[in-house]
Amino acid sequence: MASNRPSLILGLESSCDESAASLVTSDRRILAHKLAGQEDAHRPFGGVVPEIAARAHVETLPGLVEAALAEAGVTLDDVDAIAATAGPGLIGGVLVGLVTAKGLALASGKPLVAVNHLEGHALSPMLTAPDLAFPYLLLLVSGGHCQLLRVEGVGQYRRLATTIDDAAGEAFDKTAKLLGLGYPGGPAVERAALGGDPQAIRFPRPLVGSAEPHFSFAGLKSAVLRAVEAGSHSTADIAASFQQAVVDCFLDRTQRALAASPGVTALVVAGGVAANQQVRGALTGLASAHGLPFVAPPLWLCTDNAAMIAWAGALRFEAGLIDGLDAPARARWPLDPEAEKARGAGVKA
Ligand code: KG4
Ligand code: ZN
Repeated sequence: MASNRPSLILGLESSCDESAASLVTSDRRILAHKLAGQEDAHRPFGGVVPEIAARAHVETLPGLVEAALAEAGVTLDDVDAIAATAGPGLIGGVLVGLVTAKGLALASGKPLVAVNHLEGHALSPMLTAPDLAFPYLLLLVSGGHCQLLRVEGVGQYRRLATTIDDAAGEAFDKTAKLLGLGYPGGPAVERAALGGDPQAIRFPRPLVGSAEPHFSFAGLKSAVLRAVEAGSHSTADIAASFQQAVVDCFLDRTQRALAASPGVTALVVAGGVAANQQVRGALTGLASAHGLPFVAPPLWLCTDNAAMIAWAGALRFEAGLIDGLDAPARARWPLDPEAEKARGAGVKA
């Protein structure tokens, strides 16, 4: 911590359906990143089955740690700290990763850093954009979350908006299911939309123009269901029109947050849905209209991975934020504990 040498952090991720291990330095070198998806195990069920995910993490995570260390040409002795996602997420998987990290920390005598998965996404753009400075406005759009955050520093997040029902990635996944495009849904909808007309169907844009800052996607999902049942539009047109509606929601809500949060240095997007090219293109335009740089991580860093956990771990470690071996696993863990509760049942953090 006190030395001038960059620190080396081993990071583990296991909060959903990706098992991953990575070695990252505090000066932004990614020495290894290993990832094992579980698509084949979950595909027959059309979505992630928590117990199957947890069991798969048990089987794959230790091998990924070994492979990451081998690829980087280091041992646990060379590592300064061991970081793992400690929540939020599917609790079985979180437990597997956190306990694995605790075992490694105990065996090596190295400190543990318990990382909030959302903090991993929130800080991930800094790993590949060295000039990105606090505070920045972050649109965090993943399978479990849809939030606008003002990122003010490591461990300092102000939530400006969240979803009052479904997360953005969840809306993509449900639409994919309704259209019979299978799992994982987001990339499948994006591919199907390529051949469609985004103006073919005027789907609702919930909360667009509202004085309230939040997101909502449940009404959009119901409208997609009705369009599928009506049978009068092609899959490509439904996918493209759905995607356009989501993009319009992102633009309107982000614009509102920019107005409410002056002084930010950049508009940043992170999380799995940030892999979507339409989303990236639309936000690029919005940022430039506001005279701000637009920053998005490379695609592999948008979806779940352990490099972002190691990187968040590195920043926390350098700030002296280490955790005891009694660190809890948390299914829910809001980044901004001060944020007011948004209306609506089933609000995700
Ligand atoms: O961040 P992530 O990998 O996991 C969570 O923390 O949730 O995000 C996964 C979500 C899924 O809902 C997936 O369908 C969505 O991100 N996603 C996409 C795309 N790639 C992944 N959504 C739209 N377009 C994509 N290209
Ligand atoms: Zn994620």
